[in-house]
Amino acid sequence: MRKWNFCAGPAVINEEVLKEAQEELLNWKNVGASVMEVSHRSKEFDQVASEARQDFIDILKIPENYEVLFLQGGATFQFSMLPMNFAHNGKPVAHIVSGTWSEKAEAEGSKISSTEVVASSADHNFTYAPEVQELNAGNYAYLHYAANETIHGVAYHQPPVSTLPLVSDMSSVILSEPINIESFDFIYAGAQKNIGPAGLTIVIAKKEFLVNENDKLPNILRYTKHAENDSMLNTPPTFAWYLSGKVFKWIKGLGGLDYFKEQNHLKASTLYNYIDSTEFYSNPVNKSDRSIMNVPFIIHDSSLDSIFLEESKAAGLLNLKGHRSVGGMRASIYNAMPIEGINELIAFMKEFEAKHG
Ligand SMILES: Cc1ncc(COP(=O)(O)O)c(C=O)c1O
Repeated sequence: MRKWNFCAGPAVINEEVLKEAQEELLNWKNVGASVMEVSHRSKEFDQVASEARQDFIDILKIPENYEVLFLQGGATFQFSMLPMNFAHNGKPVAHIVSGTWSEKAEAEGSKISSTEVVASSADHNFTYAPEVQELNAGNYAYLHYAANETIHGVAYHQPPVSTLPLVSDMSSVILSEPINIESFDFIYAGAQKNIGPAGLTIVIAKKEFLVNENDKLPNILRYTKHAENDSMLNTPPTFAWYLSGKVFKWIKGLGGLDYFKEQNHLKASTLYNYIDSTEFYSNPVNKSDRSIMNVPFIIHDSSLDSIFLEESKAAGLLNLKGHRSVGGMRASIYNAMPIEGINELIAFMKEFEAKHG
């Protein structure tokens, strides 16, 4: 039996999507083999690949002046591939640091080029989304930030206002609601939250921004080379691409991102409202900056943490342990987690409080 899975990533995938893949596993499209066993250059795979890409473009309403690339290496690889390409002209990269991931992006990026932290919420343990002051666009290569901090549960609900080219890590928030692509020069996301299985990393890049790419780099490190080759410069992660395509069809079938926006806001507000209503649990994040995807919470008596995790697991609620760097609990409530899962979690939390409070 499947249980309610609150893992931060790799994360829950809709059951219908998994069942469809299961049905097709041994004999895909009547080719007599699974999708994992055929050439990525075959006409069958090519159709799946381009349909997935087009569905992704449709769902996010990505304009034609953007490239959409299906890459590998995870979001972490983008921490260095980005500055290798766009910070080769001596200008520093401006970084907003609002949690562990944007902090890592800056630390990794600083091994490639100079960097400058232009706003940070480290002073308050990453419990808010810091505002960036006006910056002189001519002085920086671009501005990097994380739209959603998966570990700290902090989000920018609007992109930071800046005249610099804007680069956003959307790993844990992409496809959760519509976004205005034109506000960004470059977006990247590891797949293993709202997109599909780990192994795929999606990049959405403004063509005008890609013109600044470092053409001295090997092809595999150049976005334009991936674009010229339809993201098949080398063998792509075919199964992840195929399954992500099924997730995109599932999203489209339900009415696209407007539907998920409504669901995700309902799920998040239901859970936050409950947490705020009791003294037993709390969430430390500034209310207006709370994530709709990752909800960290603590039990005031932290000696109950391990009992909470044991009992929630026994109740069929998986992976509620907070990240080791912040402790406590965290419920990741991506697209494939329905409101029923949230209601079950809240029912369990109430019962736990009644028993141990
Ligand atoms: C916001 C964010 N950025 C970057 C990463 C790193 O992703 P990956 O493991 O795909 O390199 C993660 C992973 O959870 C993340 O949540």
